[in-house]
Amino acid sequence: MKNVYIETYGCQMNQADSGIVGKILQENGYILVNSDRQADVILINTCAVRDNAERRIHNRVHDLQSLKKNNPHLKIGILGCMAERLKESLVNEDKVDIVAGPDSYRRIAALIRESFAVDVELSKEETYEDIIPVEINTDGISAFISIMRGCENFCTYCVVPYTRGRERSRSSESIVKQAVNLFEQGYRDITLLGQNVNSYRYNDNGREIDFAELIESVAQINPLLRVRFATSHPKDISDRLIDVIARYDNVCKYIHLPVQSGSDRMLEKMNRKYTVEYYKEKINKIREKIPDCAISTDIIAGFCSETLDDHKATMELMKWVAYDSAYMFKYSERPGTLAAKKYPDDIAEEEKIRRLNEIIDLQRELSLESNRRDIGKVFEVLIEGESKRDKNKLFGRTSQNKVVIFDKGENRKGEYIKVEIGDCTSATLFGKKLL
Ligand code: SAH
Ligand code: SF4
Ligand code: F3S
Repeated sequence: MKNVYIETYGCQMNQADSGIVGKILQENGYILVNSDRQADVILINTCAVRDNAERRIHNRVHDLQSLKKNNPHLKIGILGCMAERLKESLVNEDKVDIVAGPDSYRRIAALIRESFAVDVELSKEETYEDIIPVEINTDGISAFISIMRGCENFCTYCVVPYTRGRERSRSSESIVKQAVNLFEQGYRDITLLGQNVNSYRYNDNGREIDFAELIESVAQINPLLRVRFATSHPKDISDRLIDVIARYDNVCKYIHLPVQSGSDRMLEKMNRKYTVEYYKEKINKIREKIPDCAISTDIIAGFCSETLDDHKATMELMKWVAYDSAYMFKYSERPGTLAAKKYPDDIAEEEKIRRLNEIIDLQRELSLESNRRDIGKVFEVLIEGESKRDKNKLFGRTSQNKVVIFDKGENRKGEYIKVEIGDCTSATLFGKKLL
């Protein structure tokens, strides 16, 4: 009765959290297994950010219930953001046995022992900083470190402040320790995670450590350790952070700076707390200080009352920035958010899809142009593994977070090599190793 299978959906933070849950379970005598069929307990770590994310999980739970026919003792648990949002209703409607919110993981073993257990209490302090997570489904090269939890920005469309609770930062010492530990195990690419990493603050015996100082401490562990971070809220990105990225070769030249919309009216309504002009100034500063920096974004199409002019303004801004990549979504109303309470979800579904598709098509062109600009250049690539399509090829990433495919040769995962780019698609670079 001790085999546990953990399945993870949603953001990178959920992946980091699944590692924490895994570690707590191991300490309680449970064994982590790789398939739902071997499991006595199936835990699904869930995302509530959009309706389609939730629908997928309801379907998955429904399918898993059939495993109970062969194994009547099987328990199914929901963790994470859907657990926090839907609480007991998951027991009543989806017939799950365990519901544990993001701050309840220390009690996960006790919850498994009970039948029909719901624990969704949010905490102001919990950071799990003393727990060194297990790396689940790892490639042995890239890992995530959660540096803070929660979010208090209350963007009007977003459910995260309700599912993750108050913002709190983990001690810098525990973060550096985890990074050192990962480096010693062979990891070479670490992403520091928070909903808004620029508001990281930790009081170290009276001295305040901010994100720029934290990332510098992690970068100093070893020049062979690449450091990335996500997500930066544009309102809080500091000149000091831009300086640190410029100064350290191993702090990756890649900033994910989600803009959401290119219209000031929409940004105001979303409660993003910046204007298009302010955002452009930040981009200019990044370009000036870090000329080879890649920039990506998140865009929401069809937010409440978005006009065709607002939509065009988003596309104009995308072209102006010339984003290297983007995550693009159509607006999905989330119950309980300020937008759901205050603004009608008044853009028709087909129109949202049409605008989203326009945005996706534009980004595909921008990504292709960005990749074409790399042809003929030489990049340092960290090898991450074998290409899935062709066993004779390896793949890795550049500092700019672009995937590069090249011939295998003698090289191994975890090594850095210099690759000259010869060809590309909108998603991938193809190159040749330099001798
Ligand atoms: N903290 C990060 C975002 C986390 S959620 C930030 O502020 O940038 C990831 C992305 O999901 C958001 O950037 C947004 O683009 C999208 N998103 C969030 N809520 C959404 C909703 N209700 N509908 C559609 N997309 C949404
Ligand atoms: Fe959501 Fe805004 Fe917080 Fe990001 S910053 S998690 S979009 S509320
Ligand atoms: Fe989803 Fe929760 Fe992350 S809603 S995006 S899993 S913080």
